[in-house]
Amino acid sequence: MGLGDEKVERPVDVVAEADRLEAEAAAALEEQVVVKSVLYVSGDRDPRAGVPMPRGRRLLQGDDPRLPAMPEAPTLADFFALRFGPPSHLLQSARRAEKAGCDEKVVLACLLHDIAVIGFIRADHGFWAAQLVEPYVDPEVAWAIRMHQVLRFFPDDEAGYEYPQMYVDFFGEDFEPPRWLVAEHERARKHRWYMTARQITLNDEYSFDPNAVVSMDEFADVIGRNFRQPREGLGFDGSPSAHMWRTIIAPTRSL
Ligand SMILES: [Fe+2]
Ligand SMILES: [Fe+2]
Repeated sequence: MGLGDEKVERPVDVVAEADRLEAEAAAALEEQVVVKSVLYVSGDRDPRAGVPMPRGRRLLQGDDPRLPAMPEAPTLADFFALRFGPPSHLLQSARRAEKAGCDEKVVLACLLHDIAVIGFIRADHGFWAAQLVEPYVDPEVAWAIRMHQVLRFFPDDEAGYEYPQMYVDFFGEDFEPPRWLVAEHERARKHRWYMTARQITLNDEYSFDPNAVVSMDEFADVIGRNFRQPREGLGFDGSPSAHMWRTIIAPTRSL
């Protein structure tokens, strides 16, 4: 099935069913309180103030009833379908890489490069995304995903990469990359996989066509050949990033 690409007219009983499920979820949350993680509210609140704990009520210590249930052994496709935001930017980037004749590794890297933005944490999104997928992909793919975040801020005339106008719009003319970003860039320039990460930024640049229709099915084979899906499901295989996938499954679990 495609992801959000098809428009289906919803029959009335589906709406009623959705209302019923929503009411059920609300009732379940009457019983169990969500205490938001510090990271979710830090900035909106001063983290030093602490998070107020409710008295006399149970905390949610399982799946969030407001979110769709995940399968026992979730796959990457399940996360795209049930936990991630709209993936069109990723699908378009991957398609662009494929059309440009890039290696399959690069196509996969493009498909996954912003999964942290659409499903986890925005700040340092390349680093978080790389960590999520590292146990399941070629080391070159993980490295490239990590570094695309850095390379986006630095033009490379030889490779045909300009500083994106979008970043001027987002961050202003006067934005200067902080020193850790400059240092990461210097390290990346000397790395043997530099061009792999650079290719993500080259395919990233033009990937925001709101009218393009691309489906996840188009990349099922690329994922099948290049993403080692654990039998136990993402989150349950004891890998170094399993906890991160579990947090995405149940982001409001108390502990
Ligand atoms: Fe990115
Ligand atoms: Fe991107």
